Amino acid sequence: MGALDAIRARRSIGRMVEPAPAGDDLTAILEAGALAPDHDSLRPFKFVVLEGDGMDAFGKVLADAYVARCDAQGKAVDPSKHDKELTKLRRAPMVVAVCAVRKASEKIPWVEQRDAAVAAAQNMLLAATALGYGSMWRTGDPAYDERVKAALGLTDDDDVVGFLYLGTPTDAARKPPNEARLDDVVEFYAP
Ligand SMILES: Cc1cc2nc3c(=O)[nH]c(=O)nc-3n(C[C@H](O)[C@H](O)[C@H](O)COP(=O)(O)O)c2cc1C
Repeated sequence: MGALDAIRARRSIGRMVEPAPAGDDLTAILEAGALAPDHDSLRPFKFVVLEGDGMDAFGKVLADAYVARCDAQGKAVDPSKHDKELTKLRRAPMVVAVCAVRKASEKIPWVEQRDAAVAAAQNMLLAATALGYGSMWRTGDPAYDERVKAALGLTDDDDVVGFLYLGTPTDAARKPPNEARLDDVVEFYAP
């Protein structure tokens, strides 16, 4: 599938099944991330692949972080939300945490380093689509939680820009392409 076809075909799929990308396909998806535009070649990103038992272990991290957020805010733990944190990664057979890792630079501001990680995430979604996989970019409170960041080997200076869910859509879960609209987003500059 060509680049434009992948851009047009990409849709967010909420639930996916096996197979997840593996072997050359997984490498191609991760390489697509690493090939993102990156001002000054700082490589300010890291991709953490979660699958199998690792997803369950990380689900525990998400659930513990939820409890800690409740404690910090003086809120009661909602058992259904706690259970969702434990199990939500299993909505797909693989999740890639796309992390922006702050690099020391006098020239490149953090916002541009973070932008590079965001571009990496989109490259990965498009590569997955081109290879026939389903995908979905998610964040939510865990992406901004210091405990979750620490479990991914990040510091508070770094960011999780997204959890990319990857797998195979069931036939019922497949979605038609979005309609591309320009009317509300494009203008030709007229001085
Ligand atoms: C940075 C970012 C974070 C997102 N986080 C979530 C999320 O946590 N949950 C969710 O349902 N959609 C989230 N979305 C939106 C979906 O990924 C998706 O783009 C949206 O549902 C539109 O569907 P489509 O991609 O099929 O057009 C996020 C999108 C972006 C760019």
